[in-house]
Amino acid sequence: MLPYNVELDGKTVLVTGAAGFIGSNLVMRLFHDFRNIRVIGIDSITDYYDVNIKYERLKEIESLDRDWTFVRASIAAKDAVERIFSENKISVVVNLAAQAGVRYSITNPDAYVQSNLMRWNTWFMLLHHQSMEVTRKFRIQLTTRLTTRSAFMQQQRRVTS
Ligand SMILES: NC(=O)c1ccc[n+]([C@@H]2O[C@H](COP(=O)([O-])OP(=O)(O)OC[C@H]3O[C@@H](n4cnc5c(N)ncnc54)[C@H](O)[C@@H]3O)[C@@H](O)[C@H]2O)c1
Repeated sequence: MLPYNVELDGKTVLVTGAAGFIGSNLVMRLFHDFRNIRVIGIDSITDYYDVNIKYERLKEIESLDRDWTFVRASIAAKDAVERIFSENKISVVVNLAAQAGVRYSITNPDAYVQSNLMRWNTWFMLLHHQSMEVTRKFRIQLTTRLTTRSAFMQQQRRVTS
């Protein structure tokens, strides 16, 4: 088992981008490493690559028969995000929902601006609002964001152009 810097046993973890490459592997890893864990995944199933791969990953997670809930929605969908937080006691959020891929960002920069800047901005506003309310009620312990190289490059390009 990998060393974790946060206690996750008995906790509920929200993974965004849960049908993605890293998100789905993280969910399976969490179920492998913790006996008593609840995981909620949210993913809008974008068609950047074959969506069947994402459905296969979700099927594989489902087949583990663990405490798993999947919500198909965008992280910028206010109602869906608010419902997740109001109906669940989320302790940890791992944000992996993104438009990934460095090369694609060069040919399709708009997709990155929409996904990794605008939708993320909405998501962080929602999360901030929820954290303030949830922290009062349940205490959120940790919010993790993995920055995409693509979003970084996009910003760099804006700064330098
Ligand atoms: N895979 C790598 O080698 C690698 C390396 C470095 C960084 N990263 C970063 O890690 C993150 C995840 O990468 P990945 O390889 O799993 O990508 P991925 O494309 O496989 O997964 C991202 C998931 O996010 C979902 N998504 C996109 N926008 C969404 C939205 N608005 N709401 C909900 N879901 C949304 C997509 O449907 C997809 O399933 C990205 O930020 C990526 O840049 C990945």
